[in-house]
This record gives sequence, structure tokens and C-alpha cells, in this order.
Amino acid sequence: MAAATAIFLIKVLMFAYLTAAASTASNFYQNFDLTWGDGRAKILNNGQLLKLSLDKASGSGFQSKNQYLFGKIDMKIKLVPGNSAGTVTAYYLSSQGLTHDEVDFEFLGNVTGQPYTLHTNVFTQRKGGREQQFRLWFDPTTDFHTYSVLWNPRRIIFSVDGTPIREFKNMESIGVPFPKSQAMRIYSSLWDAEDWATQGGRIKTDWTKAPFTASYRNFYANACVWSNGRSSCHGSGSKFAWMNQQLDTTGQQRLQWVQKNFRIYNYCTDTQRFPQGLPKECTVTN
Ligand SMILES: *[C@@H]1O[C@H](CO)[C@@H](O)[C@H](O)[C@H]1NC(C)=O
Repeated sequence: MAAATAIFLIKVLMFAYLTAAASTASNFYQNFDLTWGDGRAKILNNGQLLKLSLDKASGSGFQSKNQYLFGKIDMKIKLVPGNSAGTVTAYYLSSQGLTHDEVDFEFLGNVTGQPYTLHTNVFTQRKGGREQQFRLWFDPTTDFHTYSVLWNPRRIIFSVDGTPIREFKNMESIGVPFPKSQAMRIYSSLWDAEDWATQGGRIKTDWTKAPFTASYRNFYANACVWSNGRSSCHGSGSKFAWMNQQLDTTGQQRLQWVQKNFRIYNYCTDTQRFPQGLPKECTVTN
């Protein structure tokens, strides 16, 4: 197991060092396709800005042209302002097929002046149910903030403006699958989920405020692109630090600060939901 992982890492790193192209930055025309919403998704400013909108008839969405297998992927997002109750802005990585892997950020809107919920989840081999939810320490609707996924063979780290909020470690040694062999695309969509997202459907989406709009810019992927059955990692030298990156002491402290003060739900402490016992990864600090 350890030897196999080491060989795998060496292979990945060989690709990394052999390929010395530039990292993909920012241009939405080059990196994304607008896939849903019939004109409600728009790329503006020569590819520097992307906007999704939602009205009563439809939401909208986009997906990356590339599939990635490991990387550090950053996106700046400015969420729907004002009365956004019922709206969900989903930003996630996902592979395809029946036993898919997925890494999710979902932003649940709220009535004016009340906080968003940042909902996160990790699916491995089709199994999800690993929700953690957070409040944010800023208003995510007045400005752009950076939402990042660091995904390497050992861990997945969710970060907000460089502050780690959640880590999902590779726990294959205790029998928990880890996403490491299925390439993922980046997806985002803005949709209406008033039944799910607004305190059990008690608050309705206020369609007089439509269209609702979320904005994206500064997409940056230091990542391995998967195509034709092989991975090629763009970048060079120190740009690959993410491949072995783990939280340093400061990172761990920041993570604990967020979990202590801003985490409002953790499946690993929800004993009511798992009367037969918590999922096994919950026995490990995770
Ligand atoms: C909306 O705000 C209320 C009051 O602060 C909070 O209880 C609720 O969880 C928030 N809803 C969402 C979807 O974040």
C-alpha cells in the first residue's frame, strides 16, 4: 500500500516536472463552457468575468473544458446580494459515472441581512453524506472572495481567502475511498432550491427581486489536466508545491479557529443521524 502510493506519487511528479507549460489563469472563454440557462450565463470583459443568473424560468451554469486529476484550483466569487433566500450557488468538482467523486461548495442564500450558509461535502465512489456547514466571517455578497480546493493524493483542503476551513484526508488505510483515479471537471450553477435551502421551505424565494446574479473572476488552476488517459501537469518547479502540500502549524491553527467559531454542522458529530455508529472516517481527525 505505502509502496504503491509512493510509486504513484513519483509518476505524478514525473509528469509534473517533465511538462513545463504555464498554469491556466483566468480567461473564462478558454477554460469554461456555458452549459445551462439559455443566455442567463454570460462571459464578459474579454473573458475576465463570468456571471450566472437565475429567474423564475431557469437558473444557469457552466463547466470547465478540462478535466483535472489533482490540483490547486482557485475561483473568486461574489454571491447573490440582498434577499437571496432560496437561491443556491453551487461550485464543485465532480467526476462522471456511477461511482463518481465530488468535492462541493454550496452557498445557500438568505433573507437580507442574515448570513449565508456555506455547505460542503465530499463524495468518494458515489458515497457522500459528509456534510459540514459554515458561516463566513465576512459578507460574501459585497465583494469577491477566493474559494479554493487543494486536491493532492493525500488530502483535500477547502479554503476561503487562503484560510483552510475543512480537510478531508486520505484514509484509505482504514478503508475509506479517496478520490485519486477519476478526473474531475469544475462545475458551477445558480439555481432555486427554496424547498431545501430555506429552513425547510418556510421562506420562499422572492421572485420580485429576480434576476439573481452571482459573479466569478480570477479562476486559477495549478493542476494536472487529464486527457486521452494521461495526466499532464502544467507549471514547473515550486508551482508544484501543492502536490505535497499539507497544513503547517499556522494552517492548522486557522482551521481550528474556523471549525470552532464558524462551523455550524458536522456530520461527524451527528450521532442522531447515525444511530448505528458514525462513519468510520469520523474516528480519525478529519
Ligand atoms: C438564515 O438566517 C437565519 C437567522 O440567522 C439562520 O438561522 C439560517 O440558518 C440562515 N439560513 C441559511 C440558509 O443560511
